[in-house]
Amino acid sequence: MSQFLAQTQDKPIDHGLARPIVIANPLACRSVYPPEHKALMAIERVAECEQWLSTWEHLRHTPTPLWSLPDLAHALGVTEIRLKDESTRSSIKSFKALGAPIALIRLILRLYSTQKFDPAALLTGRYRDDLHALTVISATDGNHGRALAAAAQSAGCRCLIVLPEHVSAEREQAIAIYGAEIIRVADNYDAAVAEAARLAAAHGWHVVSDTSYPEYEIIPRDVMQGYGIIVQEILDEIQASPDTQSAFTHVFLQGGVGALPAGILAHFWEFYGAQRPVGIIVEPVQADCLYQSARVGHAAHATGSVTSIMAGLACGDASPLAWKLLRGCADFFMTIEDSDAVACVRQLARGSQRDVPIVAGESGAAGLAGLQIICESAVLRAQIGLDSRSRVLVISSEGATAPQGYQAQIGESAASVLARQTAWLAKP
Ligand SMILES: Cc1ncc(COP(=O)(O)O)c(C=O)c1O
Repeated sequence: MSQFLAQTQDKPIDHGLARPIVIANPLACRSVYPPEHKALMAIERVAECEQWLSTWEHLRHTPTPLWSLPDLAHALGVTEIRLKDESTRSSIKSFKALGAPIALIRLILRLYSTQKFDPAALLTGRYRDDLHALTVISATDGNHGRALAAAAQSAGCRCLIVLPEHVSAEREQAIAIYGAEIIRVADNYDAAVAEAARLAAAHGWHVVSDTSYPEYEIIPRDVMQGYGIIVQEILDEIQASPDTQSAFTHVFLQGGVGALPAGILAHFWEFYGAQRPVGIIVEPVQADCLYQSARVGHAAHATGSVTSIMAGLACGDASPLAWKLLRGCADFFMTIEDSDAVACVRQLARGSQRDVPIVAGESGAAGLAGLQIICESAVLRAQIGLDSRSRVLVISSEGATAPQGYQAQIGESAASVLARQTAWLAKP
């Protein structure tokens, strides 16, 4: 695990360790949810998203598991760790299956507003004949593109996906099986985003991106809104009440461009108001655009190479839209090494006497890896207010989205881990 040095805003705390990895966000606040944010993320729109997706064959239609990990909580010195497991959300194997389809549905409703389509029937292919002239395009590190390709295929429109050079052939194949046409750029994720925008403008196609950029916010907002389903399921399962302190003291979330953590933390903020949990954003050190945003106070660019084994988090530019939310409700930002994420993937796969074995990809495990690093240092624990009474939520945002890569990392196939999970669950 990493050696580190913590930093609070402009005052680094020297632990005699290697580098700064945690900063407090000076803009975070504990107010009620600002009314103007409701145009970006609003709990009242979640039920509509659920209903529209209720007919989609690629989604499960029951909540994903919210595992309890008592052995890990004990080892890390906190009361509770709950892990929302998005690996089984969809055959697409990640939470992204909630975002792109919602954005596609809303785009179609806007473009074909006179046709009075039933939104819940769009992903059944009922309007396939009306939609064949529609072309959507997006850049991706893998998971968003896979979800968009699947949604476009279900709706009956054409889909092009632009991939940065570092995305593996295995991830490309997982997108192409949904009929999407693949375009490669010999550069990183940000170049792929620019290329998708350029091609769309040149050909009259529609960008359905999970990241925002100047004058492009409506669709990324719709993507983010779909992620509210995850929080709603959690709040329902724990029977949360908005009149009490948050059931979780801390929420550790991995960030790429920031839409996932923004969608999740904004929902908690709206629900609990000033009693919201502490939000900690975790990123690869080589793709630290959100961490840099917290440093400078606006959506910023990463300082590193923007490549990582945490493929979904390898993003160079923070989404300005996501930042509008994160600036108020993300309290701390931290970076981790690729090796930290891999160690966490292995640990989750292993399980223990009281902790169920879990399949999580490197991006999916990053939030939990961040918690583990914090717990190695008394100073960092104190900085973010973690103690033996803390109740922590993490979201494992993907399963083995690249199964061969997963097996190579942990020396066991995802199928074998799942078989051990089934056996663990069957224990008396
Ligand atoms: C598995 C996984 N987790 C987390 C993220 C980060 O999401 P965002 O880029 O919205 O911050 C991604 C993004 O692709 C991802 O694929």
